[in-house]
Amino acid sequence: MSKYNLSINGATRSVDVDATTPLLWVLRDHLRLIGTKYGCGMAQCGACTVHLDGVAMRSCVLPVSQVGEQSVTTIEGLSENNDHPLQEAWLEHDVPQCGYCQAGQIMNAAALLSDTPNPTDEDIDAMMAGNICRCGTYTRIKAAIKTAATKS
Ligand code: FES
Ligand code: FES
Repeated sequence: MSKYNLSINGATRSVDVDATTPLLWVLRDHLRLIGTKYGCGMAQCGACTVHLDGVAMRSCVLPVSQVGEQSVTTIEGLSENNDHPLQEAWLEHDVPQCGYCQAGQIMNAAALLSDTPNPTDEDIDAMMAGNICRCGTYTRIKAAIKTAATKS
């Protein structure tokens, strides 16, 4: 076990865990930030997407020992009042079905808009292609990203 002081959603959080523990389990099991979901555990679905210094990362395959000084943002820290343009657009377009994949979808889309405020269809497809939705909400996800892009 080792102690890690992590910057998460703007606060320093300390955890005592094995160095190989994936960040996902630190977030969910140790810090009770359960908005970030476990889907595949193999970087194949995107359900576990968080930001490291603003870059979308798959927390299921990221050992906590590699986080270092980087700032981690989870869905709980994306906005103060659930009012990020993407969160509002998600509601406007009634995107979620079961909801399981949606935190990862929003975090991935947020990284896209941060880098590319006015994405083309191709930009959206390229960025979002690896985020799987078993409920097939892809059309609404794309529409919501376009709506958010007009407001961010
Ligand atoms: S749970 Fe991390 S990519 Fe699927
Ligand atoms: S909304 Fe059900 S998996 Fe995406």
